[in-house]
Amino acid sequence: MIWLSIEKDRELPLTRQIVDQISSAILSGRLRPGEQLPSTRELASTLRISRNAIMDAYEQLVAEGYLVSRSGSGTYVEDGVYLESGHQSKLSSSKDTVNNILTSFIDFRSGLPYLELFPYKKWGNLAQEICGEAESSIWSYGDPQGREELRGTLAGYLHRTRGVNCHPGQILITSGAVQALTLVVKLLLNDQRPFIIEEPSNNDIRSIFCSSGSPLIPIQVDQFGIKTQLLPVESHPAFVFTTPSHQFPLGGNLPVKRRVELIQFARKSSCFIVEDDYDSEYRYEGFPVSSLQGLDPDRVIYIGSFSKILSPALRLGYIVVPENLVQPCREIKRLLDLHSPTLEQLVMAKFIKEGHLGKHIARMKKLYKSRRDHVVKELNTGFSGSIQISGDKTGLHLIVQFPGRIFDDQLLNACLEAGVRVYPVEEHALIKGYHQDKILLGYGHLEMEKIIEGIRKLANVLGR
Ligand SMILES: Cc1ncc(COP(=O)(O)O)c(C=O)c1O
Repeated sequence: MIWLSIEKDRELPLTRQIVDQISSAILSGRLRPGEQLPSTRELASTLRISRNAIMDAYEQLVAEGYLVSRSGSGTYVEDGVYLESGHQSKLSSSKDTVNNILTSFIDFRSGLPYLELFPYKKWGNLAQEICGEAESSIWSYGDPQGREELRGTLAGYLHRTRGVNCHPGQILITSGAVQALTLVVKLLLNDQRPFIIEEPSNNDIRSIFCSSGSPLIPIQVDQFGIKTQLLPVESHPAFVFTTPSHQFPLGGNLPVKRRVELIQFARKSSCFIVEDDYDSEYRYEGFPVSSLQGLDPDRVIYIGSFSKILSPALRLGYIVVPENLVQPCREIKRLLDLHSPTLEQLVMAKFIKEGHLGKHIARMKKLYKSRRDHVVKELNTGFSGSIQISGDKTGLHLIVQFPGRIFDDQLLNACLEAGVRVYPVEEHALIKGYHQDKILLGYGHLEMEKIIEGIRKLANVLGR
């Protein structure tokens, strides 16, 4: 087993990176004579790069004599290609390198839906219908705010399912929630006022806000969500960023008392609340909790996404803003990318209107719930009472706490070597040292056997 570190934005072509690393692993003896390499398909999927790059690399390595290809059986390390010393591994340990293990591992990455059930036939049919019927103007530049068809359907959908109070004119269609957050930065973080953010909070989102140079005020989160009693009265923030229906990463669901306190704080401080409602459609116990936006539509900027409920590749999200922010928001969106892709918006509008989204969510919710139940059962079996599970009532991931363990690089690498990838909560913490014993386990995209196998592998490592 060896590591490949692929840097997609390096100038060195992918094929060259693979050739260099495999040859170096063979020369140094980390890949042994006779060892079989994974198939090109498997490696391409593990490294998330094109299969062609792998095939070219294998071909080159065969031509150079490092590998031997046996027809019908696979690709193996050639005998006698081991150079005892003086040939150091070219592996980089830089932080921004994407590390991947050569043999496949079970990846508990959070926030990935199960894409095998993406309704591609229905999606394709709707796209075809629209292409057949639509006026040629749909192929021109469109409205920066997004298609009326989608905004109209979405307003009704959000009202029914999330208690969001808005009319279509307050909605802007964005390239995922991430672009909606960028709109917020450009809209509200332009006068060096601080912003308040949950601690811990999604690392990437914090980086998006921090790119403005505005000071940040982290407010601790407990098992319910943001601790509203800690909100600093005199801080005059531009906004409070929160994930009240499924706190990321810890998974809390903010009780109504704290929701009210949050709104009272925003009113007193004349600031906005930015509500990121990224995956709360999947609530496994009771009904999805209504949005914060519904409690005060003038104070709350509501952000949602189709990434978790359908597919992140669509890059479709939305932001609902109070009336007075619509025009500035439109202009920022226009300058960012003119508008989001028209065809995808029209397909999505039809997909919702004809009831397919509702059906898809209901189907997926059943599946995810049973996966969640299995994760919990397997964890309890594998670690018999020595762990604490939380944040498991909503979404596609949960949190496991292993009191006394520290998920540092060494332990995470040991997990990887055992064939399982897990993600430390600490990665999302600004204030270090409080969440070292917790990991995020994303399970939505994993089939049952993988979940069981992954947790057993984890138990093997952590039980040592
Ligand atoms: C807290 C949070 N918000 C939003 C998103 C989704 O972003 P997008 O809609 O751009 O895919 C994620 C993705 O993992 C997330 O963790």
